[in-house]
Amino acid sequence: MRRVVSAHFPPGRWHVGGSMEQAEVTRTYDRNAPWYDLMQAPMERMGARRWRPMLLEGMAGRVLELGVGTGTNLPLYDRNVVVTAIDPSARMLERARARAAQAYATVELVEAVAEDLPFATASFDAVVASFVFCSVSDPLAGLHEARRVLVPGGELRLLEHQRPSGPILARVFDALDPLARRLSGASINRPTDDHVRVAGFDDVASLFLDRFGIVRLIAARAPSTQGDASGHDAQTAAHDRQTPDGELAELAAEEPNARRAKEVDR
Ligand SMILES: C[S@@+](CC[C@H](N)C(=O)[O-])C[C@H]1O[C@@H](n2cnc3c(N)ncnc32)[C@H](O)[C@@H]1O
Repeated sequence: MRRVVSAHFPPGRWHVGGSMEQAEVTRTYDRNAPWYDLMQAPMERMGARRWRPMLLEGMAGRVLELGVGTGTNLPLYDRNVVVTAIDPSARMLERARARAAQAYATVELVEAVAEDLPFATASFDAVVASFVFCSVSDPLAGLHEARRVLVPGGELRLLEHQRPSGPILARVFDALDPLARRLSGASINRPTDDHVRVAGFDDVASLFLDRFGIVRLIAARAPSTQGDASGHDAQTAAHDRQTPDGELAELAAEEPNARRAKEVDR
């Protein structure tokens, strides 16, 4: 059975997470919602359409999708998944409702921000997001929340565009970032895989899906004993550096441009 519920928050122009900046981001997505799929179409053709199934491969149980937008991923979940999907933009969620209706999985839509999730600790087996941490106004707070709501050892999987790996292109992206943010609500120079490490996740692995290291599939696990979610300790850092990224390599077997971040950085 399909269940679509909306609005944990009253309708209207409220400031999510108390952040003016986030209110502006949300307004931008509300404004762009009618054209979002059209604006996103070139990106889908360039690769996102192929990468989305990699993001959701093997997902089962209770899955939280952050920043669901117009719901592009929703028809791709298997029927054995119970999806809770959040987004702060009511207009984007309106569009996601139509996609939820086409989903095999059970879907619940909730108006909320990643930085302040209205869910109990350890209530999801996996947390996923595609092209979201470029927009979340406090990405570290959002990742700490993702870690909190995951069961110990639960999986975080992100498909994100971020600051390119090469220094020249990285500087170009830095220069264009203010304009990109104003027009689309999304930042183009976030170091999201570093943020995942800093937020205290284990087994952080990052796979470059294009040759410039811009789009990445990031996989990580919540620590198997969930302690203080406030930051990254030395033990976690040492563990991350030894992480085998076999799981991502398997996911990317079919993807011609995919390379592990470690290989490209060398
Ligand atoms: C670029 S869109 C991506 C939408 C969708 N995930 C996709 O793959 O097409 C970014 C989405 O993140 C949402 N967003 C912005 N700030 C957020 C926050 N603080 N927490 C969760 N989602 C947020 C936006 O409303 C928007 O729907």
